[in-house]
Amino acid sequence: MQEYSIAVLPGDGIGPEVIKQANKIIKILESKLEIKLNLNEFPVGGAGYEATGHPLPDKTMEGAKKADAVLLGAVGGPKWEKIDFSLRPERALLGLRSNLGLFANLRPAKVFDALVDASTLKREVVENLDILVVRELTGGIYFGKPRGVETLEDGSRKGFNTLVYTEAEIKRIAKVAFEVAQKRQGRVVSVDKANVLECTGLWREVVTEFAKDYSDVTLEHMYVDNCAMQLVRNPKQFDVILTTNMFGDILSDEASMLTGSIGMLPSASVGGEGGMFEPIHGSAPDIAGKDWANPLATILSVGMMFKYSFDLEKANGWLESSVESVLKDGFRTRDIMSEEGKEVGTEQMGDLVAAKLEELC
Ligand code: IPM
Ligand code: MG
Repeated sequence: MQEYSIAVLPGDGIGPEVIKQANKIIKILESKLEIKLNLNEFPVGGAGYEATGHPLPDKTMEGAKKADAVLLGAVGGPKWEKIDFSLRPERALLGLRSNLGLFANLRPAKVFDALVDASTLKREVVENLDILVVRELTGGIYFGKPRGVETLEDGSRKGFNTLVYTEAEIKRIAKVAFEVAQKRQGRVVSVDKANVLECTGLWREVVTEFAKDYSDVTLEHMYVDNCAMQLVRNPKQFDVILTTNMFGDILSDEASMLTGSIGMLPSASVGGEGGMFEPIHGSAPDIAGKDWANPLATILSVGMMFKYSFDLEKANGWLESSVESVLKDGFRTRDIMSEEGKEVGTEQMGDLVAAKLEELC
């Protein structure tokens, strides 16, 4: 029997609640697919800090390294906003990404039919929207050196971060974007700020050169400010958006809202050992513990885990269909609630998807 291990990192805020729903789904998939899944839970983020004094405890990092895949809830919260930068919950995410070498972050923004009217944009603008942001995840300004805050001679301070990309880093993320585009509509828009930043001028050059090997994929370049505008003006012009770490952070949040709620979007971080799967939303401390959180992004992240880490793409299909079907039946968590919707909590939404999945596979 095929066996896989999953490091489960619930984290903070609504993290544990949404992970609990994902666990229900994992159990069902395990029995349907007749595989064995070994789940090991570790603290991370604020929870890691509380347990050990560090947001990414050694045991958590070791557990993540050993596992075939990592499933993460969310990290952060007001309780840890005042502690030193190096110990903030968010640092755990960056540490996991870089220590596992997960340089490619895939963030799909797909509009479910049943949710077209949950978007703040007009139906015709978002109907059938299906875009994928391919974000570079272990380089750029997030990791570039020098970085810090220094005191100048006059006693005032200066802060600085550095945007760095090597040709090799650009090529390997371009490869991910072009390969994934081949399986989609075959269109890549590479997003940079080549008119101002030399580093992204290099990005543009390297991507252009790289594209020559992919005659079946069309490449277009766009400045990031224009892309931000085009995403709300006419998002359906995009298929795959290839971009840097920071631009991808910003554009993927923007893209997510086209779909109605950030609570719907999963993500996969791949490229290195195993893979890490997480909802793109944060820890939402204001609604934690209230059974209000939308677990669908985390459930769909489980689908991405089966697809990318276990090569079981059909599980991803089952989950997308189960979610679509529950939404068609009118069930909604608060974030996607509509007038005719039937409001359900986190637990119940998890149970509804689990029941559909049982039926479907
Ligand atoms: C994300 C988040 C993280 C990021 C933070 C929490 C470090 O915003 O995954 O998009 O900026 O990458
Ligand atoms: Mg972000």
